[in-house]
Amino acid sequence: MTSFPVSENVARMKTSSTFKAMQAAANLREQGFDVIDLTVGEPDFPTPEFIKDLAIEGLHKNITKYTAAAGMKPFTHAVAHFYGEQFGAAISPKEIAASCGGKQALFNAACTILNKGDECLIPKPYWVTFPEIVNFTGATPVYIETEETDFILSAEQVAGAITDKTKLLIVNSPSNPSGRVIPSDEMRKIIEVCAERGVYVLTDECYLYFVYQPAEVFTSAVLPEELRRFVCVAGSFSKTYAMTGWRIGYTIANEAWTQAIIKLQSHSATHPTSFVQYACARAMERREESMAAVQEMLAEYKRRRDWLIPELNKIQGFKCANPEGAFYAFVDVRGLLGEKFAASADVADYLLTEAQVVTTDGEGFGADGFLRLSYATSMENLHTAIERMKSLFNAQTDATASV
Ligand SMILES: Cc1ncc(COP(=O)(O)O)c(C=O)c1O
Repeated sequence: MTSFPVSENVARMKTSSTFKAMQAAANLREQGFDVIDLTVGEPDFPTPEFIKDLAIEGLHKNITKYTAAAGMKPFTHAVAHFYGEQFGAAISPKEIAASCGGKQALFNAACTILNKGDECLIPKPYWVTFPEIVNFTGATPVYIETEETDFILSAEQVAGAITDKTKLLIVNSPSNPSGRVIPSDEMRKIIEVCAERGVYVLTDECYLYFVYQPAEVFTSAVLPEELRRFVCVAGSFSKTYAMTGWRIGYTIANEAWTQAIIKLQSHSATHPTSFVQYACARAMERREESMAAVQEMLAEYKRRRDWLIPELNKIQGFKCANPEGAFYAFVDVRGLLGEKFAASADVADYLLTEAQVVTTDGEGFGADGFLRLSYATSMENLHTAIERMKSLFNAQTDATASV
């Protein structure tokens, strides 16, 4: 490859490990292997028909021109109204900016607050993109270990990690990769601790609705004004309505933060696609229909989770807690480490080469010793994956048992 003087900002960023795993799956598939891909970070359902129809309606109405950088008024108003109706949140449309997916929402929020020399708290395990956005800004990611609280961040842990340099905490619940959900009381305490110390909080709520009872859906958008002043919610339509390719999300933050976000976005993407904004605005107005579509997907994820987790725990050396949200199983494979495997990456490689089951190694999420398995795939695929993994790891035990 020819050398290129890549900027320091970008040079500091690492390539996404989830992307690498997806690439490995694609390569094997190209070679003709029957691959079971458990790396997928997107719903396996199609976008609901009525949302597709709304986008077509938007096109026919010629909603095909630039919109305001904040997003078109019907969009920002629909988000504010939806949060009011669904959660009882009192948000002004002026606190909302449309973005090209949750990822851009996070990027906009982080880049408008972080400076070189600032510290940004990131609980482990984290979504791979968080540290890289922080690295891009020149701020320093500071990680919080959460294993002793079963990967559920606590206010105490946050309080212990704040220093004079801390500017921002990035928190993600339900979590990718762990599937853990921070209870609403604890989330409130976390934000209180931060607000008291003048630390801002970026809450990634991309999996907001994918929560399995008794865990509860909670958005920080409902917090009282004195706390919400310190919060930016990053929301997304990608997972909620199976719209990953449409690229639409939003931020909810105080007006000053939102203005900074709009300024930044006006010089980059400008805004998400006009007729996509239209479709989402109209879909949010049809709240019952939208939520029914979400509930249908949630029920299917739950059915898969309820079958998959006990099966994973039957595999020799695998230990998996029950995820309360999102669509990932986060498997502790440290029981397998030793002579044969030095790290979880070796276990992932072994699964890939010996069983053509593709998983994502935990190292990229700050959790070496774990594998992330997505169950946003068919039950049939999950059955095959479990069969193949059992035959790799349980063969010894089964043989012994049958003697
Ligand atoms: C935790 C988390 N946040 C944000 C995103 C970004 O999603 P999108 O940009 O498609 O909205 C993802 C996607 O995988 C995610 O897992």
